[in-house]
Amino acid sequence: KTNRTFTMIKPDAVAAGNIGGILDMITKGGFKIVALKYTALSAEKAGLFYEVHKERPFYQGLVDFMSSGPIVAAILEKDNAIADFRALIGATNPADAAEGTIRKKYAKSIGENAVHGSDSDENADIEGNFFFSAFERF
Ligand code: CMP
Repeated sequence: KTNRTFTMIKPDAVAAGNIGGILDMITKGGFKIVALKYTALSAEKAGLFYEVHKERPFYQGLVDFMSSGPIVAAILEKDNAIADFRALIGATNPADAAEGTIRKKYAKSIGENAVHGSDSDENADIEGNFFFSAFERF
């Protein structure tokens, strides 16, 4: 269970042409791709996905941004996946992200920060199930 996480390449990174660069950092980081999809979130689906943040001041902006263009969703596998992936992507705010992280290289701002990574095993399950059926996992 602790060996899977969920990620999205967000609309800013897709629009900037960084799908390949980010997937390369993910696979070179030792993560195996279990499921992968090029898709988009409607405003309604983005609102559902980020429902835990509904009371936050940035919620509407987050929903607008996440539904502004296509994304890539993926389930990733590696020992210690949650913590190791959060280390690989770096801090939420790219200004605080360490050298060598995905957000240091590709993120523009705290809102448009290139990638998502699950923060717990429970959320990795919920988020993966939001996008993928059992038949789409390999
Ligand atoms: P993510 O990890 O995908 O999940 C919650 C998102 O909310 C987070 O990435 C950020 O992109 C976004 N977020 C967090 N804090 C702020 C903020 N202060 N302003 C705008 N967006 C934020």
